[in-house]
Amino acid sequence: MSERDLQRRYLDAMEIVVWEQRSARFPKENPCNDEVDGSLLSTRLVEDMDWPTLQATVENCRLCELCNSRNRTVFGVGDLQADCLIVGEAPGADEDRLGDPFVGRAGQLLNSMLRAIGLKREQVYIANILKCRPPKNRDPRPDEMANCEPYLIRQIALLQPKVIVAAGRIAAQTLLQSSAPIGRLRGSRHVYQAANLPMVVTYHPAYLLRSPSQKAKSWEDLKILRKILDE
Ligand code: URA
Repeated sequence: MSERDLQRRYLDAMEIVVWEQRSARFPKENPCNDEVDGSLLSTRLVEDMDWPTLQATVENCRLCELCNSRNRTVFGVGDLQADCLIVGEAPGADEDRLGDPFVGRAGQLLNSMLRAIGLKREQVYIANILKCRPPKNRDPRPDEMANCEPYLIRQIALLQPKVIVAAGRIAAQTLLQSSAPIGRLRGSRHVYQAANLPMVVTYHPAYLLRSPSQKAKSWEDLKILRKILDE
């Protein structure tokens, strides 16, 4: 498929109307006849995007059905020069309402965890695997993650953090392309292969709110993070 065809399909999938001169059009075709492979489209088209274009693309994204139930997309928040990128799972109800990640109770705990190792929320960048809220906070579906992950991959390429923190099973398994349980993934230093960056896995703050006895383990993870940041 040519770059132009690919772009046309992407724009159609995103319901972005592009005006062009009749004479500039290629022979008529109906891009809607084919199933749109969102992950292929988003991967190829975001790979050269700058930050504002990427953000606008996410805001307009209609690659999966989550666009029908969302109130706001949640692109991410924080310092674009941050050494540390925190990656969560997906927006919850508060995030969907406000458009920023980790603004509910789990976010308060995340802020405290960061403070414990001398980081302010404003000093890191925070994003999610999914940019839209799954209804009733169900787990993200594989196709939703496949469509959405290219946005995060581009964010990582543009941010170039010194270290990535995966908060929770979904972020850890997705970024490490692993099916290992989080209990096995946390507690050590990993490499995020796509960008050759150090990565730390820890429990999701929402899980820690439900299971406070696991906070001691997450403190061990945070110490690994601090050590990497100090290198
Ligand atoms: N949980 C997440 O994983 N991300 C958010 O932004 C909020 C809650």
